[in-house]
Amino acid sequence: MKSLVIYDSVFGNTKKIAQSIVDGLGEGSTLIHVSNVKPGDLKVDLLVVGSPTRAFNAMPTLNAFVAALPANSLKSVRVASFDTRVDVEVVKSKVLTTMVKFFGYAGEKILKKLASKGGISVGTNAFYVLDKEGPLKDGEILRAQEWAKQLN
Ligand SMILES: Cc1cc2nc3c(=O)[nH]c(=O)nc-3n(C[C@H](O)[C@H](O)[C@H](O)COP(=O)(O)O)c2cc1C
Repeated sequence: MKSLVIYDSVFGNTKKIAQSIVDGLGEGSTLIHVSNVKPGDLKVDLLVVGSPTRAFNAMPTLNAFVAALPANSLKSVRVASFDTRVDVEVVKSKVLTTMVKFFGYAGEKILKKLASKGGISVGTNAFYVLDKEGPLKDGEILRAQEWAKQLN
């Protein structure tokens, strides 16, 4: 099976998760930064797109990338998404906890957009950082690998 993992990352945490997803998917899986994707790269069986959640959304680079995909270009491609985010249980900010309930996270939004281009949704997942620049919470690298194995 051919799969592609597209990501953006500011502090490197989402890149680490993206790499573990590629490791979990195994042979036939490629990692590409969103700025390096070429149209031919999208001829895959599974497309996974990941972003840090910033201001309750995906990075503008990723939103622009998905928006620019032609209608139905992901027809019969299985699509999944992920984001990295702070854990509201750790941050303990009432304002943030309330706001995320209303405005959400990048992962769900990316998946909807991929599906709107014809992709077949197979799931989204969230991976946690302990502070905005990281590090990732313990165990997230392994959890990402295990999740990827289920996508295969
Ligand atoms: C400007 C900014 C906005 C952010 N907004 C959110 C947010 O809305 N929800 C959230 O859970 N985390 C938020 N974060 C934390 C990011 O999710 C965190 O920086 C990111 O997971 C780190 O990934 P990266 O190392 O790949 O950049 C924000 C961080 C920054 C710097």
